Amino acid sequence: MKKVRMGMVGGGKNAFIGAVHRIAAFIDGEIELVCGAFSSDEARSKSSGLSLYLPENRCYASYDEMFETEASLPKTQRMEFVVIVTPNYLHFPIAKAAIENGFHVLSDKPATLNLPEALALASLIKRHECLYGLTHTYNGYPLIKQAKHLIEKGDLGNIVKVVVEYSQGWLASKNDEQSKQASWRLDPEKSGVSCCMGDIGGHAANLAEYVSGLQITDVCADLTSTIVGRTLDDDGTVMLKLSNGAKGVLLASQISLGDENNLKLRIYGDKKSIEWSQLEPNTLWLKSNTEATLQIRAGVGEMCIEAQRAMRTPAGHPEGYLEAFANIYQNFVAQIRAHNNGEQSDNATFDVPGIEEAVRGMAFIENVVMASQSDLKWHPFALDLNQNLPEQN
Ligand SMILES: NC(=O)c1ccc[n+]([C@@H]2O[C@H](COP(=O)([O-])OP(=O)(O)OC[C@H]3O[C@@H](n4cnc5c(N)ncnc54)[C@H](O)[C@@H]3O)[C@@H](O)[C@H]2O)c1
Repeated sequence: MKKVRMGMVGGGKNAFIGAVHRIAAFIDGEIELVCGAFSSDEARSKSSGLSLYLPENRCYASYDEMFETEASLPKTQRMEFVVIVTPNYLHFPIAKAAIENGFHVLSDKPATLNLPEALALASLIKRHECLYGLTHTYNGYPLIKQAKHLIEKGDLGNIVKVVVEYSQGWLASKNDEQSKQASWRLDPEKSGVSCCMGDIGGHAANLAEYVSGLQITDVCADLTSTIVGRTLDDDGTVMLKLSNGAKGVLLASQISLGDENNLKLRIYGDKKSIEWSQLEPNTLWLKSNTEATLQIRAGVGEMCIEAQRAMRTPAGHPEGYLEAFANIYQNFVAQIRAHNNGEQSDNATFDVPGIEEAVRGMAFIENVVMASQSDLKWHPFALDLNQNLPEQN
């Protein structure tokens, strides 16, 4: 068995999430970084790669050069998958180039700049042998897996209400727009039709669907650009209808002063309810009107197999964001190994968010923006992945 070889696009010096990805990728010792195109600037890309101890000839000037050169290397040396950690507008062209050169893709979210690109990506993936994963990080928490398990086995009964919130305060003032991360997120050409809903609302929507096992079918939305001069939203509220008739609320905000990465999920059934917060990720509350509230702690007592697999340390030794991220990598690597062995390697089997989640995420963003601009109360977002695929050429 050999380590799986990873290339990276984006994640150069002073970038945010690329470094987090590298830590997450290395936690389980299954992945080695073999190459990268870390910046659109050639010198910066090279110096970023060298500072990660890569050989100079594997620090590329551009992603096109990287895919072309890597594809020409012997199979046992070339990278096997690429992780995409650039601003949103580059996700599709990079994923497309990678797939056309025969590489698996692990992309950060949102999958693409818009829904047509996501559908084109789905079509491309159908025609190639490549695997595709999307880093919806929060799915990786052990107690999120436990919550999903409790709902699947019916402990909550019929789900009647879902409340999911993701609020941050880092874009609360005009001055906050100076950072590298803010400047492209607030630019529609680079970010897409939404800032806040695209950046964190999509994570919240995915988490709600992942844990509840339901799908959002209709949205009623109100998005705001709180800070004068912004074209894109920095705050929003969305009412949801879910596939079993349950109702929901999704709040996303980047102007909530003092809020950290305040991601919270509450799901109410007709028997019991659950409550989870990223600020206390190793605790899950199980509640009802008739029994004492149960505090479920990661690693204490019986946990479902998925939650157990998502933990690395004994109970009470805190695990968090990096390990949740690492769980996506762990599962994606297992998926690649299965694929290499000719075994079943679909995303659902390996619990890796894939192209279906990618398309649903883009549809969520576009429908929420449309709903916010309309006077119609509810916007259905019917999305049949097969029906919506563009004609293949
Ligand atoms: N999963 C999560 O929890 C999570 C968290 C944060 C960000 N993200 C996503 O990750 C992506 C990056 O966000 P960020 O905050 O790290 O942005 P960033 O601006 O900090 O980093 C972007 C990087 O991409 C590089 N880049 C730009 N154009 C390039 C090109 N043509 N070739 C190679 N590299 C290029 C930049 O030089 C920079 O290194 C975004 O899509 C964002 O939505 C996901």
